[in-house]
Amino acid sequence: MTAKTYAIRTFGCQMNEHDSERIAGLLEADGLVPALDADAADVVVLNTCCIRENADNKLYGTLGHLKTAKEQRPGLEIIVSGCLAQNDREELQRRAGHVDVILGTHNVHRAVELLHQSRETGPVLEIWDEALEEAESFPSALAVRREIDYSAWMSIQIGCDNTCTYCIVPAVRGRELSRPFGELVAEVQRLAADGVHEITLLGQNVNSYGRDLTLARREVGGVDDDVLIAGSLWAADDSRRIRPLFADLLTAVSAVEGIERVRFTSPHPKDLRPETIIAMAENDAVCNHLHLPLQSGSDSILTAMHRGYTAERYLEKLAAARAGIEDLAVSTDIIVGFPGESEDDFERTLAVAADAEFDLAYTFIFSPRDGTVAATYADRFVDPDVVSARFKQLHTVTERSALAKHRARIGRVEEVVVEGVSRRNDQMLSSRTRQNKLLHFASATALRPGTRASVLVTDAGAHYLAGELVEVLAAPRHRTRIPVSAG
Ligand code: 5AD
Ligand code: SF4
Repeated sequence: MTAKTYAIRTFGCQMNEHDSERIAGLLEADGLVPALDADAADVVVLNTCCIRENADNKLYGTLGHLKTAKEQRPGLEIIVSGCLAQNDREELQRRAGHVDVILGTHNVHRAVELLHQSRETGPVLEIWDEALEEAESFPSALAVRREIDYSAWMSIQIGCDNTCTYCIVPAVRGRELSRPFGELVAEVQRLAADGVHEITLLGQNVNSYGRDLTLARREVGGVDDDVLIAGSLWAADDSRRIRPLFADLLTAVSAVEGIERVRFTSPHPKDLRPETIIAMAENDAVCNHLHLPLQSGSDSILTAMHRGYTAERYLEKLAAARAGIEDLAVSTDIIVGFPGESEDDFERTLAVAADAEFDLAYTFIFSPRDGTVAATYADRFVDPDVVSARFKQLHTVTERSALAKHRARIGRVEEVVVEGVSRRNDQMLSSRTRQNKLLHFASATALRPGTRASVLVTDAGAHYLAGELVEVLAAPRHRTRIPVSAG
């Protein structure tokens, strides 16, 4: 019998991509294999996002196509998961009766069970309004079918306790929960033993990791007390009880043998502590890249957004990070057209963006999300033509600094990890520098993804570097996955 196949389409952020890997892991554990042709898959998963785009139109469009496909192939099974499913459950159920399973952000681990259930009972909708079985709701706590063998994502916390007025995340992902420290370190050890050498720690607000946890120092098996010194600043009167800080986690993860690169996203500027900067500077494995979302350069807009910092404070934090961490690359997120944004507010954003000299900026047009405070500010929405002109202006400023930052790398030798053959030119390999920049280079021999090499930078654009191979430093340690066709 031929194995059933699956295909997953992911909308949105890394958190969602990680959830998708996890659904893939569950489906594969159930005997399914990835479909070579997504249109012919037996099970299709749409993992949705509602943070920015009006993803609903796209989703209902895709579901329309799938309806026709299901009429032709009644065996086709459809799962819709993620934030949009969590938020728009009733509408989804009403408009898409051909969907077999609708599940939310807190019960991803139930995907296969619900699929089995739907075979018995017909369409199933199961949404948890909050994470009930805490450990189970962490994407990392389950088998994952990783897309890349040498690199892994790990959710260290879920949810968000902040109240940014434009943001739907607290409503769909719930309150902040940190995954236990020892569990995370143990998972990194397992991943490293499996050949993974790069870990990306994921959370909505990684710097508040541990706020809800308390560790008994003696219970932290395998981790030296020394690594917990930063956390011990938090010690109450009983000095053995500490709260782990994000800095402790960075240190402990970096100390795992075989881990060469540690990345994380995203820290909230208001919570970026000196301990984190020290941990980034002192642990060689932690990459010299910081994603620090600015959102706006205007203090009155930052207040209206509920961000908890001023532009000046942001720039101070940035300066402290740059002073503490050698050769730091900085990326950011900026929203244009938040309700009430005046010409003066926008000028301030331009000025701060120019001052901050970002290596990379993700710029977004404000999008009112139902259920957020800012969506109720309809009387202050900015004219779309004005917003689009501002968006272009900001883009010019951020592209200028990105290009300058990239050009400044020309002549340097960068340590890179090979990602694969370049998508644009199959004679070139694409790789990542420690600063998270894309670096394309030619190599006479094919180097496997995960190979570490040093490359001389010879050219640069706003979003890439180009160079020449200097030498191969190390071959990847992971086993290459050999595709098997189940017979
Ligand atoms: N409109 C526009 N951008 C948004 N973001 C989050 N919510 C919205 C919204 N309603 C952006 C923020 C955040 C990034 C992940 O998405 O810049 O940092
Ligand atoms: Fe949303 Fe703000 Fe939380 Fe980030 S910190 S997830 S923007 S509420």
